[in-house]
Amino acid sequence: MYKKNHFKSLSAKNLTPQTVVAVPVSNSKTKELVSAPCMRLQGSVTVPGDKSISHRALMISSQFIGKTVIYGLLEGEDVLNTASALRHLGVPIESGMDKWVVQGVGIGGLSESADVLDMGNSGTSTRLLMGLLTPYEFTSYFTGDESLRSRPMARVSKPLEEMGAKIISRSGGKLPLALTGSATPLPITYRLPVASAQVKSAILLAGLNTPGRTTVIEPEETRDHTERMLQFFGYKVARETLPDGALAISLEGRQEIAAKDREIQVPADPSSAAFLVVAALLVPDSDVLITNVCINPLRTGLFTTLLEMGASIDYTNKRMVAGEVVADIRVKTSKLKGVTVPAERAPSMIDEYPILAVAAACASGPSIMHGLKELRVKESDRLAAIIEGLTACGVNARADGDTLYIEGVNGNPAGGAFIKTRLDHRIAMSFLVMGMVAQKPVKIDDGSAINTSFPGFTRLMNKLGAKIASTDRKKYPPLVIAIDGPAASGKGTLARRLAEHLGSNYLDTGSLYRAVGMKLIYADKDPSNLQDAVEAAKSIDIEDLSNPRLRQERIGRAASIVSSFPEVRQVLLDFQRDFSRHPQGAVLDGRDIGTVVCPEADIKFFVTANMDTRANRRHRELQGQGIEVVFDSVLDDLKERDERDSVRKAAPLIPARDAILIDTSDMDAKTVFRKVLSIIEARFAENLA
Ligand code: S3P
Repeated sequence: MYKKNHFKSLSAKNLTPQTVVAVPVSNSKTKELVSAPCMRLQGSVTVPGDKSISHRALMISSQFIGKTVIYGLLEGEDVLNTASALRHLGVPIESGMDKWVVQGVGIGGLSESADVLDMGNSGTSTRLLMGLLTPYEFTSYFTGDESLRSRPMARVSKPLEEMGAKIISRSGGKLPLALTGSATPLPITYRLPVASAQVKSAILLAGLNTPGRTTVIEPEETRDHTERMLQFFGYKVARETLPDGALAISLEGRQEIAAKDREIQVPADPSSAAFLVVAALLVPDSDVLITNVCINPLRTGLFTTLLEMGASIDYTNKRMVAGEVVADIRVKTSKLKGVTVPAERAPSMIDEYPILAVAAACASGPSIMHGLKELRVKESDRLAAIIEGLTACGVNARADGDTLYIEGVNGNPAGGAFIKTRLDHRIAMSFLVMGMVAQKPVKIDDGSAINTSFPGFTRLMNKLGAKIASTDRKKYPPLVIAIDGPAASGKGTLARRLAEHLGSNYLDTGSLYRAVGMKLIYADKDPSNLQDAVEAAKSIDIEDLSNPRLRQERIGRAASIVSSFPEVRQVLLDFQRDFSRHPQGAVLDGRDIGTVVCPEADIKFFVTANMDTRANRRHRELQGQGIEVVFDSVLDDLKERDERDSVRKAAPLIPARDAILIDTSDMDAKTVFRKVLSIIEARFAENLA
C-alpha cells in the first residue's frame, strides 16, 4: 500500500473525476460530456478575459512602438492563434506568469510569415488580421478548421480589395485564402452591409497603415472595442452621427504615436459570464457573483433581455478599466417569463442567443427573437443548432425566416438528449447549462471546442455546483498504463491518445516538474536551489498543470533540473500514485512511472526514438509555435537532458524490467498508437466486451 497523501493542494480528495478529466486531456480531439441536473449554484468566480478585447490587445499593441504588458488576456485557443500568427509575422510576444508582453513593431513593421497562418476556429483572428495585413506588399496564407473553412470571408475581402488587397480564396470567398497586400493602399469610406464588428475592425486596422482618412459607416452600432483601444493607446478615432442616424467612424492613417511602454487590463468576457448568469437564474437556490466583467453597453443585450424576463441581476462596483466599463455581476435564481427581443438588439448580444434560448425554454410563455440572420454564419449555423437541440430536449422551437420562436415550458424541460455541437463552443456550453436544469441529463458529442473561448468552463461550473463529466467510457477495463521515455520520443502524444481512446484519465507527469520549474522561473528563483524547488513543488496547484506556459523551452530546462532532486520527486510521488488509482483507470507518462511511481501498473511501455528523429520532432514543434530556434541548439539541449535524466541518482531514466520497448523512429504518431493499442487489446482481450 502507498502511504497516505500529504500533498494537500493536489490531493486526490480535491480531485473529483470531473476536475481530473477536465485538466489533463486538454487537447483531446473530441470530448463527449454529460451534464446532470444540479441542486444549486453558489460562489464567487472570475471568468476568463474577453475574447474580442484579447484579440485586439495583441494586434493593436503590435502596432505601436514600445512594450505593452497585457494582464488578464484570454488564453483560449482562438486568442492563442492570434498570438501565434503575430509571432509568425515578426512580432515578439512572450507570456509571463500572469501577463503577456508584446514588443510593438510599429505601424508598417510586420514582416512576411514563412508559414501558413492557421487560425483554428477563430473568425475574429482571421478577419481582423486580413485587415491588418492589407497595407503590406507581401502575401499571407490563411487556413483554419472545418468550421472556419465554411464561414464567409467575402464580407471582409470586398472592402479590403477596395483598399488594394488581392485575395484569392475558395469559391464563396472561403478559407484557405491568400491575401497579397498593397504598398500603396487607398483609404475608403465603407457602409457596412451587415452589422459586423469584425468587418468594421478589419477596415479600421487596415486604415492604420493607409495614408488619408478611412471611414466605416455603421447603420447599426456594433461592439466598439477596436475604437476604444486605439483611443486608449492615444490613436485618434472620430465618431459622427450622420443625418440618417448611422454612425461614421473615421481615422487618419499613420498617426505619429510616441514610443513608450504601456499596460492593459483585459476585463472578463460577458459572453462567457452569460452561461453562468443563465445557469444561476435557472438552477434553484443559486446566488453567484461574477467579478470584473466587461459591461460595454454594446455587449450587454443579453443582460437587458434577461432583466425584461424578470431576472435578478445586479451590477456593483462599476468602474472604467483600460477604456472599458467593468462591473461585478450578482445573479440569483429567478422566475423568468417569455420575452420578445427586437432585431435592433441583435448586435449587442449576437453571441448570446444560444444561451438565451435555454433561458427562454425554461421561462413561462413564448419567446420571440427577431433579426437572427447572422446566426446562420457563426461557428455553426446556430439557428439550426438551437432548434435541433431544444427540440431534442422536448421544447417546441421553430424559425420563420430570421425569427426564432420558443415555447417556454415554465420549469424544467425534459432533457435526456444527445446534442451535436458542430464544432461550436457556444452551442456546447449552452446545452451543458440545459443539462443542469433539465429533468434528465443532457449529453453533448464534443466539448473540445469550449477551449476556444472558455478554458476551464467545466471545472468552474463544477466548482459552483454543476455536475458536468466526461462520458468517454469505452469497453476497456480500468487499466493503469505506464509510459516512460526520453523527451520528444512521442510518449506524450501516445499517452494522450490512449487515454482518450480508453476513456481513462491522463497525467503528463512531466507537467508536474514543469509546473515547479515555472513557479521558480516566474518568481525569478534559481531552479537549482533545492530549498526553493521543494517549496515550489509543495505550492503547485492542479490548475498549474494546464498552463500553456509549461510548454516553453526554458521551463522545460528548469523542469529537468528540479526533477533531479529526490526531495522534489518525493513531494510529487503521492499525488501521482493517487491519480493512478482512479476508478476510470489512468495513463501516466513520464520517466519513472514503470519503475518508481507505478511499479504494479497493468502494462508498461518504454518509448524511444533515435536522437535525430527526436530533435527533428522538437524542432518542428517549436517552429509550429512560431518560435525560431536553430536545429543544433535543440539537438544539444536534448543530449544534455538525456544525460541528466540517465545519470541522476533519484529515479534515473531506465526502462522497467517488464516494460515493452517501442522504437518510434520510423513510425508516425498514428502508427505508434495503433501498435500499442493492439498490444493492450491482445493482453486484455478476455476483459474486453
Ligand atoms: C466579434 C464580433 C462578432 C462576434 C464574434 C466576435 C469581434 O462577430 O460574433 O464572436 O470580436 O469583433 P461579427 O462581427 O461577425 O458579428
